[in-house]
Amino acid sequence: MVMKISIIGAGYVGLVSSICLSELNHTVTLIDNNLDKVETINSGNSPIYERGLEKALIKHINHNLRSMSDYDSIPKSDLTFICVGTPLSSDSKTDLRMIKSAVESIGMALRNEGKNHVVVVRSTVPPGTTDKIIEPLLQKYVRLSERNIKLAVNPEFLREGSALQDFFQPDRIVIGCRDAWAADRITDVYKGINSPILRTDLITAEMIKYASNAFLATKISFSNEIGNICKSMGINTYEVMGGVGMDHRIGAHFLNPGVGFGGSCLPKDLAALIKLAESHGEHPLILKSVLEVNEDRPMRMIRLLEKRLGTIKGKRIAVIGLAFKNGTDDIRESRAIPILKLLIEREAQITAYDPVAIPPMRILIPDIIYCDNAGEALKDADACLILTEWPEFGELNEEFDMMRSRVIIEGRKVLSTQYSEGLCW
Ligand code: UGA
Repeated sequence: MVMKISIIGAGYVGLVSSICLSELNHTVTLIDNNLDKVETINSGNSPIYERGLEKALIKHINHNLRSMSDYDSIPKSDLTFICVGTPLSSDSKTDLRMIKSAVESIGMALRNEGKNHVVVVRSTVPPGTTDKIIEPLLQKYVRLSERNIKLAVNPEFLREGSALQDFFQPDRIVIGCRDAWAADRITDVYKGINSPILRTDLITAEMIKYASNAFLATKISFSNEIGNICKSMGINTYEVMGGVGMDHRIGAHFLNPGVGFGGSCLPKDLAALIKLAESHGEHPLILKSVLEVNEDRPMRMIRLLEKRLGTIKGKRIAVIGLAFKNGTDDIRESRAIPILKLLIEREAQITAYDPVAIPPMRILIPDIIYCDNAGEALKDADACLILTEWPEFGELNEEFDMMRSRVIIEGRKVLSTQYSEGLCW
């Protein structure tokens, strides 16, 4: 069934969702108040780097997908997905200002006209937000009971770098909703995707998202802690975690030790969940330790570097990999940021390379030498740190011959050279 869908927020989740929903043949309007972004999208250019995204955008833009800066499409739509950012404020609480402003705009758009409508919260919001904040705010503009307007929560589980695959082959689709008619509409939206659908209430759907990200982060910090122990005992961590992951109760994914988790989601959602738990008088010991283990990873990398080099001051250090993971140009909470700052504090001479993430890093940290390729960064380096698992780094070999000394430390396991040492392997 072809549906008319509006999506608010052309950030990562909104852009990927709108393009994928167009691929499912729906008619989609992607709304964003950034006019430059709207123009970029309408001209067929993706504002973010994500494998396969631009190709799919070109296929659909100006056919069944368009981007707008106004909310005129909403009354004519069957559903509106809210996909705006929910960053952390300085006190680690979730900043809901963008959500509130989106809800007010939807309320104004639906106030006087419109057909049956489902407002779907796809942004990650603290459990209870849709019930306690979004619904009362929407009610100020439009009486939901008098018009057939329903609220639902449909969290996304998209990983950057493999977002399209995650959209079309999800492990599950979670629909939180009080109303069967509205839940059916969302089920119709995903028709064609073969996935279990979990129907639940609003707050449970919101919590499933937080608990999932917290568990993924826990697996990573757990693997890192086992990695620390293995390294000090001379045991191969990757072989250990490979064996651990063969147990179907544990699962093989997210057991890769290294420099820790970054990105716009795991660190933020974990911090927000801890804050939320504390506001309910809970002491989330495991969650706090997960964060603590993660925060120590960059310093651990520097300690290992100091152990190998002696002083870092004046040494030439090549930082290879700046994105928080491969497959994206996103540097939000990338482990490369604290590491670059620690190296700058220690007065290292830094050369850096990443296949796509140099432009955003150059804005954040301008005063280091950015190189056009890994070989250039490695030339005359006293040491090198590998921080992103780009597959192309696995091909590096002769480039290491150009280093002044062959101190190669991997924060992500990607190299095939025998000379490298892992952070915890
Ligand atoms: C994460 C979740 O995986 C998605 O399911 C979720 O939808 C998304 O957050 C979100 O909330 O929007 P993402 O942040 O894109 O996705 O990336 P991940 O693949 O989860 O990687 C996060 C970080 O963990 C990266 O820095 C990665 O290098 C690191 N990681 C991952 C490890 O250190 N070890 C592993 O075994 C796996």
